[in-house]
Amino acid sequence: MYLCAVTEYLKDPIFNLISASADELDAHAYVIGGYVRDIFLKRESKDIDVVTTGKGIELAELVHKKLGEEAYLSVFKNFGTAQVKYHDLEIEFVGARKESYNRNSRKPIVEDGSLEDDQNRRDFTINALAIGLNKSNYGKLIDPFGGVQDLENKIIRTPLEPGITYSDDPLRMMRAIRFASQLGFRIEAASLKAISDYKDRINIVSKERITDELNKIILSPVPSVGFKLLFDTGLLHLIFPDMVKLHGVETIHGKSHKDNFYHTLEVLDNTARNSTNLWLRWAAILHDIAKPATKRFEPEHGWTFHGHEDKGARMVPKIFTQLRLPLNEKMKYVQKLVQLHLRPIVLAKTEITDSAVRRVLFEAGDDIDDLMTLCEADITTKNPNKVKRYLQNFEIVRQKLKELEEKDRIRNWQPPVSGEEIMSLFNLPPSRQVGDLKNALKDAILDGVIPNEREAALHFLGQKARELCLIK
Ligand code: CTP
Repeated sequence: MYLCAVTEYLKDPIFNLISASADELDAHAYVIGGYVRDIFLKRESKDIDVVTTGKGIELAELVHKKLGEEAYLSVFKNFGTAQVKYHDLEIEFVGARKESYNRNSRKPIVEDGSLEDDQNRRDFTINALAIGLNKSNYGKLIDPFGGVQDLENKIIRTPLEPGITYSDDPLRMMRAIRFASQLGFRIEAASLKAISDYKDRINIVSKERITDELNKIILSPVPSVGFKLLFDTGLLHLIFPDMVKLHGVETIHGKSHKDNFYHTLEVLDNTARNSTNLWLRWAAILHDIAKPATKRFEPEHGWTFHGHEDKGARMVPKIFTQLRLPLNEKMKYVQKLVQLHLRPIVLAKTEITDSAVRRVLFEAGDDIDDLMTLCEADITTKNPNKVKRYLQNFEIVRQKLKELEEKDRIRNWQPPVSGEEIMSLFNLPPSRQVGDLKNALKDAILDGVIPNEREAALHFLGQKARELCLIK
């Protein structure tokens, strides 16, 4: 079924070369999937998937030969696929299949199929579009399921009955939600119902693949769209139960706390508006994660969540491990922001002292700007007077941060007198007293008792050592 010619989109000379190669081998070749979808979405893509009826590897080998030395070929015989890398292009050659298309599957291909078989077994109508590459059909769009129409109407729909498509590869349930969140599309009702019905099948998918999709949802323009779909279909309960615990409101003696799930989503969207940093967005997701575990009702005060920032920071490594997120400096960064997330708002609510600002600056170091972004995102009160007051105070905090940083250089603070020097000055072995002197010096500088300078530091240490009877 040819709808229209889209030859003008096949501008890259690589397509003529693939075309000539396919004709030479007498193989049918089509560009298919994400690359074609992205043509219609006007998104540039460097990943080209080519499907052939038989001879996928031979076609890749011939294309590689024609491209010459600057091209690199990898062949995966077991899967009947091959990849050619040429400059910034990655071209994947796959034989058309009768069974489900699953590029991460470890199963070898059992049966060759036609283009139609292959399109039937893809995830969504918008990803099943193909363009002919042979001379006889060059640039012809083959759209058997109305994918172009679905792109126009912004709909995610499966080519086959949704239950079949999702059972073929349950990761597609995450992909449906990811595309909806990324592109601002609606998931067709039957598909949405099938996701709810088949949600338990997500358990057979590897955690890494699930988290890959989750991260794409988090990086989408309004991530709450994806999270609400994950929650409403019940997938979130299976892949990230700690986040679901934030959901719900409890009332005692007529006093309710806010729903921390929707609050977290608001903070996440606010953060996303100001930053594309995946890890800052993760900090937004996790900033209140320990609220359910620390929740208390105190008759005099109402609901409290004392220590949720400390407990939350302690929960981060376990959550990162469960979700197969990296256990490196990215995790430490998220932990630090969760730990410190209340500090600027406390400053903004009370009288802003230099000492308190210096301490936040000292603890946040280079991440101070991200911490401020997170804290501003955390203001979700609907009371316009409060919002105004907090934002004004944040401005003062920012101003003070700037002034103090220029004056005292606290951001990447190194003590003006080192531990080794303290030991040699006062003839001390490595001991608690050395630590006490270092801490006293740090506090004196952060509290503004002395300036962040060597002379003043040496003088202060002399005095302190005398007080502690370390010298006469
Ligand atoms: N595909 C599928 N089922 C999957 C994964 C992929 O049917 N579980 C098919 C789709 O036709 C998809 C193509 O394989 O378009 C390529 O998949 P992939 O490169 O993972 O994703 P893209 O659709 O290209 O999207 P993105 O690059 O945004 O991940």
